[in-house]
Amino acid sequence: MAVQNLQSVPAELSPEELEAAAQRDADGQANFDRVMAEDSRIEPRDWMPADYRKSLLRQISQHAHSEIIGMQPEANWISRAPSLKRKAILMAKVQDEAGHGLYLYSAAETLGQSRDEMMDALIAGKARYSSIFNYPARTWADMGAIGWLVDGAAICNQVPLCRASYGPYGRAMVRVCKEESFHQRQGFEILLELANGTAEQKQMAQDAVNRWYAPALMMFGPPDDDSPNSRESMAWNIKRFSNDELRSRFVGMMVEQVRVLGLTLPDSEIRFNEDTKKWEHGPLDWNEFKEVLAGRGPCNAQRLERRREAHDDGAWVRESAAAYAAKQVNKQKEYAA
Ligand code: 3HC
Repeated sequence: MAVQNLQSVPAELSPEELEAAAQRDADGQANFDRVMAEDSRIEPRDWMPADYRKSLLRQISQHAHSEIIGMQPEANWISRAPSLKRKAILMAKVQDEAGHGLYLYSAAETLGQSRDEMMDALIAGKARYSSIFNYPARTWADMGAIGWLVDGAAICNQVPLCRASYGPYGRAMVRVCKEESFHQRQGFEILLELANGTAEQKQMAQDAVNRWYAPALMMFGPPDDDSPNSRESMAWNIKRFSNDELRSRFVGMMVEQVRVLGLTLPDSEIRFNEDTKKWEHGPLDWNEFKEVLAGRGPCNAQRLERRREAHDDGAWVRESAAAYAAKQVNKQKEYAA
C-alpha cells in the first residue's frame, strides 16, 4: 500500500510503521470520500488529502488578505465622510472587514500555517488578494459603489461558501455574509441618496457605478475555461458554482437593483438568455485583470506599501501582546506549582 499523504508520515519509518501510516491514509481517504459523497464536513483534526489542504489554505488565506487590504480604499474616506452619521457607519464597516480578516486567518491557521507566515507572504508581495482592491476610490460616491457592487459581488460569491466542505471556513462565512448584507445596503443607500440629490450628485453616483462595474464582475475570477482551480474545488465541495455562473447571477441581481436607484449599468449587452436561462453581459478586459494580478494595477504598489507601513506601526502592539501572554503563562505555571 503506497503512502499518499505526507501529513501522516514521520521522518524515519520502519516497514511496520510505513504499513501503519499507509493504512491510516487509506482509512482517512475512505472517510474523506464518504464525507464528500454525503456532502458533509471535514474538520481540522480529520485526515484530508494534501492537495485539499493546500487548495483551502490558498483560497482562505487569499480571502483573508482581501478583507484586510480591502479596508484601505474605504478607510481613505472616513475622515472625508459628509456627515458624522456617515462617518460612524463607514468606520463600523471598515472594522467589520478587519474582523472578517481575523476569522479567516483563524480558519486558515487550522490548516497548519501561522498567521505570521501568511502575513509575511502578503507583505513580501508573494500572496494574492482580490483584484478589486487595486482600484482607486476617487469620490464619496465610490463608497456607495463599493458597498453596492463590490460587497454585492462578495455576497453572491460567498453565500455558497457557507456550505463549503471545510467546517471552519463554512462557519466563518456565515457571519461574514450577514455583515456583508449590511455593507451592501449601506452602499445602496449612499447611491440612492446621491441619485435623488442634485444633478451633480447623481452624475457622481453614475460615474462611480461606471468605474466599479467591470472590476466587480472580474472579482468572480477568470472565465470558466481559464480557471485552473475550479474543477477540483467543486469536486471537493468548496466552490459550489463556477466563476461564470456566479457572475451571471450577479448581473441579474444588479439589473433589478439599478432600476430602483434610477441609474444605469455601463453595459449595453446585458440580456437574459431564454435558452440557457442565464444573464449575459458584454466582454470584460481580461488583459487588465491579468495585469492587476501581476501587480501592475492602478493601486497595487500603494496598497502593499500601506500594508507594510501598518504592519511596522503595529509592531509594538504585537510585542506588548506577546509579552503579556508570556506573563500570563508564567503566572499559570507558578500557580500550578
Ligand atoms: N483577484 C485576484 N486573484 C484572483 C481573482 C481575483 N478576483 N480571481 C481569481 N484569482 C486568481 C486565483 O486565486 C487563482 O490564482 P492561484 O492559483 O495563484 O491561487 C487564479 O486567479 C485562477 O483563478 P481560479 O478561478 O482557478 O481560482 P479559484 O477557483 O480559487 O476562484 C475565487 C477564485 C472565485 C476568487 C475563489 O478563490 C473564491 O471564491 N475565493 C473566496 C472569496 C474571496 O476571496 N473573495 C475576495 C473578495 S474579498 C471580499 O469580498 C471582501 C469584502 O469586504 C468586499
